[in-house]
Amino acid sequence: MNTIHMAGPWITELEIKTVEDAMRNGWYENAYHYVETFQKEFAKYHNRRYGIMTPNCTTSIHLLLTALGITEGDEVIVPECTWIASAAPITYLRATPVFCDIDPDDWCLDPESVRKSITPRTKAIIAVDLFGNMPRMDELAAIADSHGILLIEDAAEALGSTYKGTRAGKFGIGSVFSFHRTKTLTTGEGGMLLLDDEKLYERCMVLRDHGRRAGGPAYFNFEVTYKYMPFNVQAALGYAQFQRLDELVGRKREIFRMYTERLAGIEDLQFNAEPDHIVNSVWVTGVVFGKSHNMTKLDAMKKLNEVGIPSRPFFYPLSSLPAYPGCEERYRERNPVSYDISVRGINLSCAMNLTEEQIDAICNGIRTILGR
Ligand SMILES: Cc1ncc(COP(=O)(O)O)c(C=O)c1O
Repeated sequence: MNTIHMAGPWITELEIKTVEDAMRNGWYENAYHYVETFQKEFAKYHNRRYGIMTPNCTTSIHLLLTALGITEGDEVIVPECTWIASAAPITYLRATPVFCDIDPDDWCLDPESVRKSITPRTKAIIAVDLFGNMPRMDELAAIADSHGILLIEDAAEALGSTYKGTRAGKFGIGSVFSFHRTKTLTTGEGGMLLLDDEKLYERCMVLRDHGRRAGGPAYFNFEVTYKYMPFNVQAALGYAQFQRLDELVGRKREIFRMYTERLAGIEDLQFNAEPDHIVNSVWVTGVVFGKSHNMTKLDAMKKLNEVGIPSRPFFYPLSSLPAYPGCEERYRERNPVSYDISVRGINLSCAMNLTEEQIDAICNGIRTILGR
């Protein structure tokens, strides 16, 4: 059996041909052809007015928070359990991340915890669609509305998911996606910011390119900003992958189905949530070991690794990490679900090239370590 990889894309001739076209022809007057096409089509698919491609998703979040005026003294709510990229741009702007607990069923931001964490300084809530799961968006939107706070959707992991028929990426004032090499749709590194508001869009476009204004004089900068421009070849890869989105998401869902079918006989395991009102695109399959198994994520990962099976830890609570010194004392009791689930959860391989034999081996490995 070939090595099982943790993550990786599905690239076909279409992607190779499209990238080749960008390499051969995507210069001079065509230098942004694929960037513009991809941005437009991606926004349209999500029923958004504007798409802005960036070098990665982290820069999309930074761009959006900057354009929204988030600054020192402001508080921005983020879930405890997410990749640090959801929260890091808050710190770039010297604002304060406020970590809220996750819901025990969907593993996303718990609206009740959000309600309790709002202060006069709260400016925004970043809802994260973890592993393709969706939070209770209606409730989060209602909380944001009633307090005059902005809602932002970090849909980096949820391309292709829907909530009550609305696509992930359509919630809040702006949403962001990641096209990292491990994501369902990849450009190696890459990100997209989606918006509906024209003024905000124009602001982000200025911020993305050294404070220049569209159509303005050459080499003329109105302010000092960032350089977060995408590359046409990167966009060509993304655009080609985007043509195959249904196939890519279908594959993710198939992998999830194969895992859950094979592990169905083991009691007290929890997987990604898919209640009736949600289609979950399952970027990665998460497994949380019920307490009866007496299995921590670190033990499970070590034991699986010994038999050649890769896995990753459920995200650590951000407040427990050395990156946020002194936060654990403040948040451990405030966010008990995050601190509990994080210890017992792992992610299984989400590589697009997984074979059935490999999925069998992964599931057998889990049975073995659990003694089932
Ligand atoms: C939830 C979440 N937000 C943001 C990011 C950041 O994406 P990128 O690596 O493209 O900056 C990621 C990706 O890794 C993510 O999983």
